[in-house]
Amino acid sequence: MAKTGAQASPVVVFSMFMLFIVLFFSFVVSDNGKEVEILLSFKSSIYDPSGFLSNWDSSATFCQWHGVTCNNNLSHVDKLDLSAKNLTGKLVSSSIFHLPFIQTLNISNNQFYGEIPEDIFSSSSSSLRFLNLSNNNFTGQIPSGSIPGLEVLDLSNNMLSGKIPPEIGSFYSLKFLDLGGNVLVGEIPVSITNITSLQFLTLASNQLVGPIPHGLSKMKSLEWIYVGYNNLSGQIPEEIGMLTSLNHLDLVYNNLTGEIPSSLGNLSDLQYLFLYQNKLTGSIPDSIFGLKKLVSLDLSDNSLSGEISELVIHLQNLEILHLFGNIFTGKIPKALTSLPRLQVLQLWSNRLSGEIPESLGRNNNLTILDLSTNNLTGRIPDGLCSSGRLFKLILFSNSLEGAIPKNLSTCTSLQRVRLQNNRLSGELSSEFRKLPLVYFLDVSNNDLSGNIGDQEWDMPALEMLSLTGNRFSGRLPNSFGSQKIEDLDLSGNGFSGTIPRSFGSLTELMQFSLSGNKLVGEIPEELSSCKKLVSLDLSHNQLSGQIPSGFAEMPVLSQLDLSDNQLSGEVPPQLGKMESLIQVNVSHNHLHGSLPSTGAFLAINSSAVSGNDLCGGAETSDLPPCKKVKNLNWWFYVACSLVALVVLAFAAFGFIFIRKRNNLELKRVENEDGIWELQFFDSNVSKSVTVNDITLSAKQHPNLVNLIGTCRSDKNAYLVYEYIKGKLLSEILHELTWERRRKIAMGIAKALKFLHSYCSPSIIVGDMSPERVIVDGKDEPRLRLSLPGLLSTENKAFISSAYVAPETRESKDMSEKSDIFGFGLILIELLTGKSPADAEFGDQHQSMVEWARYCYSDCHLEMWVDPMIRPGHASDVNHNQIVETLNLALHCTAGDPTARPSATDVSKTLQSAFRITSCVSTLKLSSSV
Ligand SMILES: *[C@@H]1O[C@H](CO)[C@@H](O)[C@H](O)[C@H]1NC(C)=O
Ligand SMILES: *[C@@H]1O[C@H](CO)[C@@H](O)[C@H](O)[C@H]1NC(C)=O
Ligand SMILES: *[C@@H]1O[C@H](CO)[C@@H](O)[C@H](O)[C@H]1NC(C)=O
Ligand SMILES: *[C@@H]1O[C@H](CO)[C@@H](O)[C@H](O)[C@H]1NC(C)=O
Ligand SMILES: *[C@@H]1O[C@H](CO)[C@@H](O)[C@H](O)[C@H]1NC(C)=O
Ligand SMILES: *[C@@H]1O[C@H](CO)[C@@H](O)[C@H](O)[C@H]1NC(C)=O
Repeated sequence: MAKTGAQASPVVVFSMFMLFIVLFFSFVVSDNGKEVEILLSFKSSIYDPSGFLSNWDSSATFCQWHGVTCNNNLSHVDKLDLSAKNLTGKLVSSSIFHLPFIQTLNISNNQFYGEIPEDIFSSSSSSLRFLNLSNNNFTGQIPSGSIPGLEVLDLSNNMLSGKIPPEIGSFYSLKFLDLGGNVLVGEIPVSITNITSLQFLTLASNQLVGPIPHGLSKMKSLEWIYVGYNNLSGQIPEEIGMLTSLNHLDLVYNNLTGEIPSSLGNLSDLQYLFLYQNKLTGSIPDSIFGLKKLVSLDLSDNSLSGEISELVIHLQNLEILHLFGNIFTGKIPKALTSLPRLQVLQLWSNRLSGEIPESLGRNNNLTILDLSTNNLTGRIPDGLCSSGRLFKLILFSNSLEGAIPKNLSTCTSLQRVRLQNNRLSGELSSEFRKLPLVYFLDVSNNDLSGNIGDQEWDMPALEMLSLTGNRFSGRLPNSFGSQKIEDLDLSGNGFSGTIPRSFGSLTELMQFSLSGNKLVGEIPEELSSCKKLVSLDLSHNQLSGQIPSGFAEMPVLSQLDLSDNQLSGEVPPQLGKMESLIQVNVSHNHLHGSLPSTGAFLAINSSAVSGNDLCGGAETSDLPPCKKVKNLNWWFYVACSLVALVVLAFAAFGFIFIRKRNNLELKRVENEDGIWELQFFDSNVSKSVTVNDITLSAKQHPNLVNLIGTCRSDKNAYLVYEYIKGKLLSEILHELTWERRRKIAMGIAKALKFLHSYCSPSIIVGDMSPERVIVDGKDEPRLRLSLPGLLSTENKAFISSAYVAPETRESKDMSEKSDIFGFGLILIELLTGKSPADAEFGDQHQSMVEWARYCYSDCHLEMWVDPMIRPGHASDVNHNQIVETLNLALHCTAGDPTARPSATDVSKTLQSAFRITSCVSTLKLSSSV
């Protein structure tokens, strides 16, 4: 037995060993099987148009499948990287998150959509360390639960909504948390401060409110805080000063108040401090200037005051200093001149006084200098371009004097130069007129002088040139050496001689003014070759000869001022047929003959035609009627008799007609278009109906929603509208193409024109906003009206609306012009995709307008246009239309109601803007800041 036992023993050991092996493998295999199953089921649940997952099948071991990485010893999925593989679909709950050994899961940059599975954090594999779901289209809430071992969680750039779950605090091991670029609301949960290992925190670009949580001081590992572009309020917590590892602190575009805590001076590793666009007050604490590692300091657009300390000298690594848009006083610190790395210095829109430090630029590395809109005096220092890199020099609206320094004339890096509204004197040197990269040059309203036509100009990049309001004299140069000029303002100088014919070759020219000079001779016919010219002002000169009839061929000319010259002959009748022309002034010339009465002359003001020997025209022109032609021919009498006969015949017919329906009531309504007669078949109705009611109910305009009735109780009033199948503009705006937006803009403009010009008395919409516009199945916009009497009951809603004009806000004044204001905002919204209610504009409607104004003058179209309608190279026509439309929108949103165009003008301008077709080629808007 013992022998047998002794023999059996190895057998037992062996078989046990075998059993173990078999068990081991069966364990491994079944586990592998589970992973294969999860991966294949994931593959089958999504759409993979690029075929990245094509080798995910049983022919290869899954460790070789695309995107799969296995750990070294055992064949388990360790990492799944499917980033940017064009995958789309929804995630189901028992999915890749359950791969038992997975550590790294990256499905960022795809088009996954739908909700993130609810159980993802509660039942995912506890081995997970890295999870990146960013840049997809996930919606819904962030699931609750926690993966305590997770180190990286990136859910940024999705469309996640709801609040940040308080469980976020139980991701104890997180080092990186990015929830930015979603639509999260509510407060930042205090529990977040429990994640003491966190190094990178980004919650930016959401709709978070409430304070920055106190207790932040627990998060000692934080190196990076980015919570900008939310609506956080309260003060910057003092405790932030305890986060001594912080390198990057960004709290921009919030609603933070109070002073900058001086404790921030303890953040000795801080390189980037961005607090711009908040409501911070007080002065900059001295401790900030102890942050020796600072590279960029941006405190702009707050309400900071006091002086900028000379202590700034300690910021020897500083490259960018933005303090604009505050109320800083005192001098520009001399210390700035000894910051060797300083590249960008923007101190504009403050109350700085004194001189610009004389050696500024000599020991800096300046590329951008903007000190505009302060109270600076003295001369422009001559070392500003010592770096050889200066490309933006912006000093306008100060009280600077003396000459433009010589060294700037040789600063060939310059691109944008704005020195207007100072007291600069002397001449523009010939070198200055040859700067190769300058595209924007504004030296208007200074005291500059000299003859600029004597020597050649060679500024090949020039797009905008304004010399207006100086004392330049002599003949005009034949050329500025640029074919790209779009805006040329030479008005208000002492230029003499004739207008060079060569200006006709400026094919990009859109605005051109020579007003207020001493120019003589005829207006060159060649100017009519400037096919993009929108505004031409030759007024207040001594020009003679006739008005070139070729002007009528200019496709987009909308403003023409020829007043105060010595022009003679007749006003070309073709000018009355121009559809683009809106404003024309020919007053105080020697013109004679009959004035056209159509087009721009239809409602022309008498002051725009007076001081001539003109006759006829529309009634508004106040001109005497033109004398009848004498010597009537015999056929005229025959024709008159025939007409009289026809009239008689019709009268007879009309008499019969009226007799037949002699219970008809007539009511007369007068408006600009003449007298309307409304007929009632029931005289009782006519008595109870007021003129206002008639015009309201008679509004059968294709762009208006018909009002069927009203219901009133003591407290409420409801308007009952015709049912229209369609969607609110506010809901669909973002999906629309430019063509559809254009159609909508035109439709609303037509409705406004109808309400304000064809209805008597005109009807005020009162609260123009995208909520008032329904877009029907045929893409026609339909405007819903309130009854005038009901507006007051709807007041509450509309006074808070961001679309209300400034004067309405102040005095509840509503008029055609306040409707035009609202329309202007809608146009801006159609063009930029931004809404005045967007968080970035705060609750000040004015700021979207200001932003748009800034964009229009200073940025490339690509910077402001809604990406959805960004024109490609093939559609320069759209480019033009978009620019023209923004221009109109800016007119509509002028602060001064009288400066806004009428509804009729708006409709006309849009019509002509949208008519610009392929004959107009590329147009580039004058460039970036
Ligand atoms: C994703 O699709 C785009 C265009 O459809 C293509 O250019 C790109 O190569 C695709 N990416 C992958 C990883 O297949
Ligand atoms: C997540 O993926 C995105 C897009 O691929 C990438 O930009 C980002 O850096 C990733 N996040 C982390 C923490 O690696
Ligand atoms: C996200 O969804 C929107 C519509 O809901 C769609 O227009 C957009 O293309 C999607 N984006 C991605 C990256 O899939
Ligand atoms: C933070 O963690 C502590 C203990 O780990 C816990 O008692 C506390 O409730 C947590 N705080 C929050 C706000 O979740
Ligand atoms: C900003 O904060 C102030 C007070 O802290 C508050 O009255 C105001 O409503 C906030 N503004 C916004 C847009 O949230
Ligand atoms: C000046 O700026 C340029 C970049 O514009 C940079 O390459 C260079 O190193 C800077 N010089 C100094 C002294 O900082």
